[in-house]
Amino acid sequence: MVIYGSNDHMENIIFELKDVHFSYLGKFPALGGVDIKINQGQKISVIGANGTGKSTFLQILDAIIFADQGSVSFCNEQLNEKLFDNEEFSRNFRRKVGFIFQNPDVQLFCPTVKEDIVFGPLQLGFAKEQIQKRLDKLIDALGIQDLLNRPPYQLSIGEKRKVAIASTLIIEPEILILDEPTAGLDPLTTRHIIDLLIQENINGRTIITSTHDLHIVEEISDLVYVFGHQRKIVKSGLAGDILNDTALLTENNLVHIHSHKHKDKTHIHPHLHLDHHGENH
Ligand SMILES: Nc1ncnc2c1ncn2[C@@H]1O[C@H](COP(=O)(O)OP(=O)(O)O)[C@@H](O)[C@H]1O
Ligand SMILES: [Mg+2]
Repeated sequence: MVIYGSNDHMENIIFELKDVHFSYLGKFPALGGVDIKINQGQKISVIGANGTGKSTFLQILDAIIFADQGSVSFCNEQLNEKLFDNEEFSRNFRRKVGFIFQNPDVQLFCPTVKEDIVFGPLQLGFAKEQIQKRLDKLIDALGIQDLLNRPPYQLSIGEKRKVAIASTLIIEPEILILDEPTAGLDPLTTRHIIDLLIQENINGRTIITSTHDLHIVEEISDLVYVFGHQRKIVKSGLAGDILNDTALLTENNLVHIHSHKHKDKTHIHPHLHLDHHGENH
């Protein structure tokens, strides 16, 4: 029997992790057995309380660190440290996969914002005119014209985050990994960044975001993965289903249950974990 169009249903898997474990310095457990497949063009988010391994997971995807146990493949190739000794592989991977750190200071080190943004593409050998064209586009999209000649360390956290995002987007990576990209940002800046990410996804990019900000989850996720206290995925599903699962969110410390006294009655309300706690959750 011929099954017509069966190829249409084939998934194009970019990352596949099987039972991935990681601990820092061999003694601080950070991932306790993560299994996940991420398809090309998906937008997914990773949510979970502090210390559940979100940042570690994203750094494993970006091959900043490598699994102690289990396997990580990228486009059917097993990632390991040795592979990155191969300059061509490494350059190719870095061009395809862009990473935006939770702390933008890690990413910004040039004397001016403009130099920081064009640093990556210059390193990767992009043509000057192409860099200028992309720079102009990003300046517009992020509203950062006035920052270009300033030293990055003087900027506010939101401005730094925008610059860090620009310095990654300018490479036009196929896959974007963002670690809490809206932490500490005002609503308008958050809006700009979310719009930009949605547009990048419409353009075909795979977007992988960790966040504490449950308000943005629906827009940035086809699928949501919840990291639990065991530092592994405890649940995955559609954003709507996960966000409506109050028991799941409460168990995993993503909403607070507050009790309020109204007149004589005590009411218990779940509260979203709002993104106003600043940095470094
Ligand atoms: N550089 C590090 N050295 C030692 N332990 C670390 C380091 N970074 C993270 N950890 C530990 O690993 C666990 C997972 O951390 P992390 O991945 O940063 O979680 P999240 O991003 O969800 O807050 C935590 O228990 C944390 O204390
Ligand atoms: Mg983190």
